[in-house]
Amino acid sequence: MLSGPLDLVVQNAKIVTSEGVYSAEIGVDEGKIVRIAKSIEDSAERTYDAEGRYVFPGAIDGHVHFKLKYFDDVYTADDFYTGTVAAACGGVTTIIDFVTPESLNYVEDFRRRRAEAEPNVVIDYGLHMSVTNFNEEVVKNLETLFRSEGVASVKIFTAYSKRGLMLDDGKIFKLMQLCKKWNVLVLVHAENEYIINSLVDSFVEEGKTEPIYHSWSRPDFVEAEAIQRVGLLASVTGAEILIVHVSSAAGLEKIVDHRSKGVKIHGETCPHYLIFNEEVYRRPDGAKFIMSPPLKKESDRQALWKGLLDGCFSVVGSDHACFDSVRKLSPKRFTEVPGGVAGTEVIPMILFSEGVLKRGMTFRRFVEVTSLNPARVYGLYPAKGQIAVGSDADFYILDPMRKTRLTKENLHSNIDHSIYEDLEVNCNIVATFSRGELIAEKGVFMGERGRGRYLFRSRGVA
Ligand code: URP
Ligand code: ZN
Ligand code: ZN
Repeated sequence: MLSGPLDLVVQNAKIVTSEGVYSAEIGVDEGKIVRIAKSIEDSAERTYDAEGRYVFPGAIDGHVHFKLKYFDDVYTADDFYTGTVAAACGGVTTIIDFVTPESLNYVEDFRRRRAEAEPNVVIDYGLHMSVTNFNEEVVKNLETLFRSEGVASVKIFTAYSKRGLMLDDGKIFKLMQLCKKWNVLVLVHAENEYIINSLVDSFVEEGKTEPIYHSWSRPDFVEAEAIQRVGLLASVTGAEILIVHVSSAAGLEKIVDHRSKGVKIHGETCPHYLIFNEEVYRRPDGAKFIMSPPLKKESDRQALWKGLLDGCFSVVGSDHACFDSVRKLSPKRFTEVPGGVAGTEVIPMILFSEGVLKRGMTFRRFVEVTSLNPARVYGLYPAKGQIAVGSDADFYILDPMRKTRLTKENLHSNIDHSIYEDLEVNCNIVATFSRGELIAEKGVFMGERGRGRYLFRSRGVA
């Protein structure tokens, strides 16, 4: 039984859940949703008038790279503060970043990463543990992270051997067996390293070093082959896997094939694959669009939209990893351009405008891929991912009547450009609430640095 006034009542809300849209008021106390009713009679410290606009559960971006080391002292442009401010302004109330091992002592690496995030994050966050080696010491460390530190997912790479990130198939197999035992999700960056290297070498030898060759050295079958392989390993080990940043129709087909045979496999795609195709690499500033996997053909883009609308993708994440123009545009060869683009802030706006309004994506699918499914697969449900009594009061208000022109001036990433420059979306994020606190309104961030909390995640036992 509650005593005293509620902290907040949001009035005139059109609440969107995976079950439907309904008009109600939301009562919040101590960071949690405590009432949802047509009319809340309790007194409140504060009211907020949503003016009949949509109130969505806070988006969960399970794939960001803030303050990611690229080489020496070069890092991605957004750190945990600027990155989470951008996320918050776009309606994202939870992010999950990564720990990249610097030793075999993964627990120490994890604690170091948490210490980097903790004083800076403005929204709640979790950490996936990237696994780049597999031996007794790594197993011991991983089990500590799974048991005591709230790590419910690991990330592996089937590429990037030169950066020391790639895990070989034998080690992937063993890691999947371990993850099956602990019911830990395995995220996979799926591209075939050997085919990429042979194509890159040929192009470079022929002097073909413009950005378009980045895409052509990583064609769709590079992704499809790796998904086929890790999907098979998931099927024999029983591990649950999530293929991150799916960029091609062929890759998506492999996910659908595996799933139809009972493999526990999910797919994530990202806003950039839904908006652009490889043609942008021919622009004078084409290198700004370099990320891995690269943008593919227009037919791939269309297939990704179809897959998103049909329920083939479980989640949308941003793979947010951005650099200033000078870093992207000064290298002479595509092989030297740091990979990655900004995207966390645009997920809800792009999916609502291009998905719901333009392509008939249902509200249910929208809520599933932006909030509910990420909460479930990453081990955050039921505290996150829904507007329901007992859940954290994480939500954002979206105005479907106000257009937004995406420009570097009105986006919040710490970079000097936006790949979405001048794209008009038919909606606007009016306000974002995190645990009941209004942290962003009309593009202005108003929360405190370091207010975000580390989320101990759990997917339950296998
Ligand atoms: O090019 C990209 N996507 N860089 C970020 C790291 C990754 O591969 O996810
Ligand atoms: Zn990746
Ligand atoms: Zn990534």
